[in-house]
Amino acid sequence: MITISLPTYDIEIEQGLLNQLNEKIKTIYKYNKLFIITDETVHELYQEKVNQILKEFEVYWIKIKPGEKSKSILVYEETINHLIDLGIKRNHLIIALGGGVVGDLAGFIASSIYRGLPYIQVPTTLLAQVDSSVGGKTGIDTSRGKNLIGAFYNPKYVLIDPNVLETLEPLEYANGIAEMIKCGLIGNKELYLHLKNKKPITKKEIAQAINVKVNVVKIDPFDQKERMYLNFGHTFGHAIEKRHHYEKYKHGQAISYGMLIALELGIQLGITPNYLYDEVKEMFLYYKLINEPLLDKKDYLDLIALDKKNIADKLHFIFIEDIEKPIIKPVRSTDI
Ligand SMILES: NC(=O)c1ccc[n+]([C@@H]2O[C@H](COP(=O)([O-])OP(=O)(O)OC[C@H]3O[C@@H](n4cnc5c(N)ncnc54)[C@H](O)[C@@H]3O)[C@@H](O)[C@H]2O)c1
Repeated sequence: MITISLPTYDIEIEQGLLNQLNEKIKTIYKYNKLFIITDETVHELYQEKVNQILKEFEVYWIKIKPGEKSKSILVYEETINHLIDLGIKRNHLIIALGGGVVGDLAGFIASSIYRGLPYIQVPTTLLAQVDSSVGGKTGIDTSRGKNLIGAFYNPKYVLIDPNVLETLEPLEYANGIAEMIKCGLIGNKELYLHLKNKKPITKKEIAQAINVKVNVVKIDPFDQKERMYLNFGHTFGHAIEKRHHYEKYKHGQAISYGMLIALELGIQLGITPNYLYDEVKEMFLYYKLINEPLLDKKDYLDLIALDKKNIADKLHFIFIEDIEKPIIKPVRSTDI
């Protein structure tokens, strides 16, 4: 088992760890009722297994529709009302069982219902395992954009079982690989080379990606500076997602195009070495994250100004000087 200890909670990673959910919960929770928030797909796949594992508990399931549309104010309110109708009380435990959508929504519900309940994350997509379940960011979308309402709210525990990824669609799997390539680029050369060499992903690589995130979150929990490195590729990535109404491109695909644009810009400004662009492009093509012809950055410039990561009116951009060497540089739109 790999354990990553954060100041207030542990992340544990092991194949088959879901089978120990019962014991793990008992170490942090003394009541009998559990409230599992999940989506319909994950419910269909794992309800029976999880009910069996948690048979000592009184388990209540709350299902949302799969997909980003569920990270809405409407679903937020409906889910909270449902929890209240089911008799949830202060100190009861919420379990977020699912991908990043479930994790973000359930985490935000946990942060705000009765001014905060304990919750744990059981991420079931690769993206959620390496990214969204780590770092304490929770939230929902509004009609103006993604994640515009939310809170920093840490779970009590994160259980990562790579076995649950066996049921994941290939494109969803690739989505997580995009974030892992990003983590390799900004903070772990061994991970980067592992993915470049197309070797299988195990708990070790999942842990390496998490550690890249954990290391920057530790020094910058509230996203003021270093945590911005995690947004490498995301400035354009978010614009691409938004322009296409979050439908045409998955997050991982959008940030893959975004990372290539950031590498291209870095080369243009004399920051990034040429070789990286070709290597990374080849990886994204291999993992089916991008297609040629690539997207043109000019088509997304107007949306960049809306990105939350911009401070005042300067565009703060993350560049890669080399593998493990990200830098933040303010750029003018005319540089792009
Ligand atoms: N909080 C953060 O720090 C953070 C970081 C990155 C992304 N996010 C958020 O994460 C969300 C995206 O997460 P995602 O990519 O996991 O998407 P998702 O939650 O929509 O899951 C993708 C699909 O996979 C299905 N699925 C989940 N687990 C499965 C399994 N084990 N087997 C088969 N199917 C399964 C889901 O039903 C869904 O259809 C976005 O809303 C994004 O904003 C948050």
